[in-house]
Amino acid sequence: GLKLVVIGAGSSYTPELMEGIIKRQNEFPIRELWLVDIEDGREKMAIIAGLTRRMLEKNGLDIPVYETLDRTEALTGADFVCSQFRAGCLEARISDERISLKYDMIGQETNGLGGFANACRTIPIALAIAKEMEQLCPDAWLLNFTNPSGMVTEAILKYSKVKTVGLCNVPVIMQKGIASALGISDINEFIMQVAGLNHFIFARHIFHEGKDKLPQVIELISEGNDPLVPKNIPPFKWPDRLLANMGMIPCPYLRYYYMSDDMYRQELGEAQGEGTRGEIVKELERELFEIYRNPELAEKPKALEGRGGQYYSDAACELMSAIYNDKRIIMHVNTRNDGAIAGLPDDCAVEVSSMITRSGPMPLNVEPFPEDVLRLIQLMKSFEQLTIEAAISGNRYTAWRALVINPLVKSGQLLENALDEVIEHNKALMPAF
Ligand code: NAD
Ligand code: G6P
Ligand code: MN
Repeated sequence: GLKLVVIGAGSSYTPELMEGIIKRQNEFPIRELWLVDIEDGREKMAIIAGLTRRMLEKNGLDIPVYETLDRTEALTGADFVCSQFRAGCLEARISDERISLKYDMIGQETNGLGGFANACRTIPIALAIAKEMEQLCPDAWLLNFTNPSGMVTEAILKYSKVKTVGLCNVPVIMQKGIASALGISDINEFIMQVAGLNHFIFARHIFHEGKDKLPQVIELISEGNDPLVPKNIPPFKWPDRLLANMGMIPCPYLRYYYMSDDMYRQELGEAQGEGTRGEIVKELERELFEIYRNPELAEKPKALEGRGGQYYSDAACELMSAIYNDKRIIMHVNTRNDGAIAGLPDDCAVEVSSMITRSGPMPLNVEPFPEDVLRLIQLMKSFEQLTIEAAISGNRYTAWRALVINPLVKSGQLLENALDEVIEHNKALMPAF
């Protein structure tokens, strides 16, 4: 059997992961399960461990569940490591949102100034984990769910030897939404091909029964409610005919770029009302842990569907099983480009449909993007690469260069002040700058 390690196990998403493991018990045999967190997450991890043990027991699975704050002990001899921690915990997310809004910018956990700040807190920790894995479990796979997932994955791909794949639930939500729009119950009945960067992907093809149904799906989702949107993004209608003219389906996060003002105003309104997304999640999380605590509960509760990361386990557990069983199925992951998207470096991370094998993802080539879209993707990749460099070097000029090209970030004095505040607030986790 396999040794599975979950870093950031106190996450309220963990029961989803466990449900996915239970579902795959016959194809993905686990010998031991190690939950890892930090002191601040000890209590949450204990509640998760309790629920996990009840879920396993209810399903007749005799798998020991260990809780630890000691990464070394957990990583030694691991086969699969799921990374899903939040550097600085929810308070850091809320401060990113509040500081961004204070300086008239969108405040979001993976985009704009917030995405930059999150990357600077997270990448040093992610690289430390990767370095430890090189010593303690050099053959293990590292599945990265930790945001900003694309940048974190690229940093690990570039600066460590560990085998890693980055994940996001957005492609899963898109695939499920497309299935429901087409009235198809089994998502494996069609092939969706996506390409781009994490939270910046486009669906390029939907192959079903020998035809490309992309135009039909575009019509269907343009008319009615767009079913492809995670809970953390307001489901604004795309401008009229945008999708039809584009000939691709932009992922919901592209609303931040193509409808920036609408998103900003919506966010500002919410921040003044019920709170920022981070503040709403804080409350949601409190409710979730109240539910998880219940000693009678032995399954993933419905309430978890209120979180944006819904269907996380469909991605994570299926990916682990596909690698382990050499399934050669198509999944949508963050991996080395290697020519899949023309116009981006080979060694950068892209989020693309890939065949998943025992040797990892083999990215599928994608038709060239129209120039305007390619330019945007390239711009965002430059932002990501400079951000990674800043997170590692602590060079303020590099940070500035990253931020000034991001379409969601302001420049000039506003940026200087915002950056000062971000750095001051995050002293404990960021490089010195
Ligand atoms: P959370 O705030 O509950 O954090 C999860 C756990 O990480 C907490 O228990 C916390 O104590 C722990 N933690 C913090 N620093 C740590 C460290 N250095 N080592 C180990 N554990 C540490 O977060 P959440 O809302 O459950 O999300 C978890 C992560 O997953 C975040 O990075 C979030 O952005 C990400 N996420 C990704 C996607 C995706 O599509 N890729 C979707 C949803 C959430
Ligand atoms: C989305 C994304 C994640 C994102 C999360 C936020 O769907 O894919 O990367 O960070 O869900 O969800 P939350 O409930 O924490 O706001
Ligand atoms: Mn995501």
